[in-house]
Amino acid sequence: MLSYISAREVAEKWNISQRRVAILCSEDRIKGAMMVGNMWIIPSNAEKPIDKRTVRFEKTHKTELKPFIKWVGGKGQLVDEIEKMIPDGGDRDLAKYAEPMVGGGALFFRVLSRYNFKEFYISDINAELINAYTAVKKNIEELIVRLKDMEMAFLPLDDNGRKYFYYNVRDKFNTVILNDATSAEKAAYFIFLNRTCFNGLYRVNRKGLFNVPMGSYKNPTICDEENLRNIHNALQNVTIVCGDYTLSKSFIDNKTFVYIDPPYRPISETSAFTSYNVDAFDDDEQMRLAKFIDEINAAGAKIVLSNSDPKNVNPEDNFFDDLYKSYRIHRVTATRMINSNAEKRGKISELLISN
Ligand SMILES: C[S@@+](CC[C@H](N)C(=O)[O-])C[C@H]1O[C@@H](n2cnc3c(N)ncnc32)[C@H](O)[C@@H]1O
Repeated sequence: MLSYISAREVAEKWNISQRRVAILCSEDRIKGAMMVGNMWIIPSNAEKPIDKRTVRFEKTHKTELKPFIKWVGGKGQLVDEIEKMIPDGGDRDLAKYAEPMVGGGALFFRVLSRYNFKEFYISDINAELINAYTAVKKNIEELIVRLKDMEMAFLPLDDNGRKYFYYNVRDKFNTVILNDATSAEKAAYFIFLNRTCFNGLYRVNRKGLFNVPMGSYKNPTICDEENLRNIHNALQNVTIVCGDYTLSKSFIDNKTFVYIDPPYRPISETSAFTSYNVDAFDDDEQMRLAKFIDEINAAGAKIVLSNSDPKNVNPEDNFFDDLYKSYRIHRVTATRMINSNAEKRGKISELLISN
């Protein structure tokens, strides 16, 4: 039997205002919506209509861009859920997109492929990651030549040959990150290592040297030329910054959609994979971030923040519920590697926090 929900519940679910739901109902844009008394009721399985009034948010069917780096905490699985939270332009006139902790950019590439924001801002504290984005933006020809050379040399080798090649590139990378090198040279090593190392991890030792062992892939893609060229074209419109997320404050205003995906608070004793850099993102860092979220909220930005749900491990842990008590907190289900053992994947809840 068909069940119905109220306009308020739909507004909450689709992250738009109740007024907007009423307008969509009266324009006959929501299949099966009915007026009962003076209230709209909507089938609980109704699809959110795509808003055609604002060209800016109409999906653009350009080439679909894929992340060119694998990244721990990559949001590939949650992209559909997060995308639903991008306002469709019915309520606000958003023109700018900011992702101050971009990592591999699962949502960023989705948005860059499909939405017509006028300006984009991405940043990350990881200098080598940001150097790779910058090289794709500015030095694509040199980067592609270098990646193709490595791909052609690496793929035909046997296991021992590949091992020798991998550790040789790792040594060269660790030499060039300490010295000056062209951005494309460093980026080519970085991308090669990312595609061939264990689980696409980026981990450095205390001296800042990359120390991840080789992974075992039969036929890794090292140079996806078409995707890299498409990204190169799309990045011309994007400001790329290396540094703390707070630097994005000067970009963010009341016309900006902000997505922030900080390193996870570990959800179990064994998942200490949050240290992308030498410093881990501890509870003090989570609190500093919450203060920043308050500031950009006050500036009028539309914000979505994702995080691990500590209640997966301890139902009594209200850390984020307390920290973000004046925001909306949605819990969504994802499959996540609970620790480094691939068999220990499980369904867990993730937090999507929005204003
Ligand atoms: C969970 S990852 C983001 C993953 C990304 N959403 C994706 O789809 O790949 C968190 C990122 O925050 C970055 N980060 C950590 N501390 C930061 C800081 N203070 N400012 C900016 N970025 C930071 C890390 O380097 C990492 O790339």
